Amino acid sequence: MKELKILAIVVFFTLVTYWGVEPFAHSKMHKHVEGHNFVYDGTADIEEVKAKIEAAKEEKHPTAALEKKLTEKKAFWADVKKIAAIKGDPKAGEAVFGICLGCHNGSGVNMGGVVPPSLDHAGALYDKNYLIALIKDPAMGSNVDHKYADTMSHPMGAIKTMVTTPQQIADVVAYLLKNKAGEITPKEAFVDACGRCHANRYAKWTQAGFVPKTKSNIKTGQDIDLLKFKQKVATEQEAVSNYMGKLPPDLSIIIRARSEHFLSTFVENPQSDLPGTAMPRTGLTKEGFEKVTEYLGETGDPSAKARAELGPKVIIFFIIFTILAVLWKKSVWKELH
Ligand code: HEC
Ligand code: HEC
Repeated sequence: MKELKILAIVVFFTLVTYWGVEPFAHSKMHKHVEGHNFVYDGTADIEEVKAKIEAAKEEKHPTAALEKKLTEKKAFWADVKKIAAIKGDPKAGEAVFGICLGCHNGSGVNMGGVVPPSLDHAGALYDKNYLIALIKDPAMGSNVDHKYADTMSHPMGAIKTMVTTPQQIADVVAYLLKNKAGEITPKEAFVDACGRCHANRYAKWTQAGFVPKTKSNIKTGQDIDLLKFKQKVATEQEAVSNYMGKLPPDLSIIIRARSEHFLSTFVENPQSDLPGTAMPRTGLTKEGFEKVTEYLGETGDPSAKARAELGPKVIIFFIIFTILAVLWKKSVWKELH
């Protein structure tokens, strides 16, 4: 009887911890962030500034600069909405795209902190509204304008002086959605959307590209090509760290370290989870995000598929084994009776 009482007390406290204390502590440590289902209409950005104004009022800090920011953000996203309604001409957009190729040319040259990503699949990877916002003002679109006194100093900021009319923006976005969409592999999605900042050790991806297959020199035992590559990685990482204020973390096991829900809200709008962070919003569509997570899932847990395939086989083995064991037991007992 005494044992039962002890058991009841243990069970009681375990359940209290499981349903009460743990979720409470969790909600205090990591606030729950709702995503916006990969819709980029500025709602999150405007709410953020409003929250900052409330916080400033509570602390009795001046709010004039924040009020100005709020007006600016509202006007910006209202313009994005207007441009989204304009019919773009892909033909005219092709000429505008020539401007983009000035930087997004695959030469691997670092520009102001990172190597501009390939735009070969931009139409499949990025959301239409996000592309409009990004071209209109890269720092505002990717919600990192807090880092710049003048958003012109963003590494893509000069686009504001090159693509100046709403029609041009509508045209180039129409061109991207029509001519630069197509099938995109999970690997391409990761490289284009995250790879300029994040390494993925398990996939042998670095900020300077995939680690090449090289050989060491038979006479000296040195692998010069690998050493040269490592130097390139070090240079690239230094540039990215200077631009971001720190080296972005390796993403090999990020899905296991964080949850997929965290990853989705974070990628959609890093400010929502980490206010003030230097990581820009990546502007992915839901499908684009799913491709990226597919790649991170595969590379972070390469044996997952083999494990999943093995499962049913093991179960079938045990079912057959059980049937044989029962039959055998019956036949043995029959002789004994
Ligand atoms: C002056 C150089 C330059 C020009 C011109 C330029 N870009 Fe960029 N672009 C960059 C750089 C640098 C980045 C990476 C910025 C970062 O990661 O913070 C970038 C990033 C991007 C991204 C990825 C954004 C994200 O959030 O993942 C897209 C999409 C993009 N540019 C589209 C375009 C388009 C379309 C044009 C032409 C209308 C264009 N760019 C013109 C330099 C440029
Ligand atoms: C322009 C550079 C840049 C790009 C592009 C970028 N990130 Fe990041 N990322 C960062 C930086 C910088 C941090 C560190 C943030 C911090 O600590 O403030 C970070 C942090 C993270 C974290 C860790 C957050 C945490 O607190 O654990 C995750 C997850 C992440 N990034 C995912 C991604 C994914 C997925 C992509 C592509 C869809 C991506 N990032 C694209 C710069 C970037």
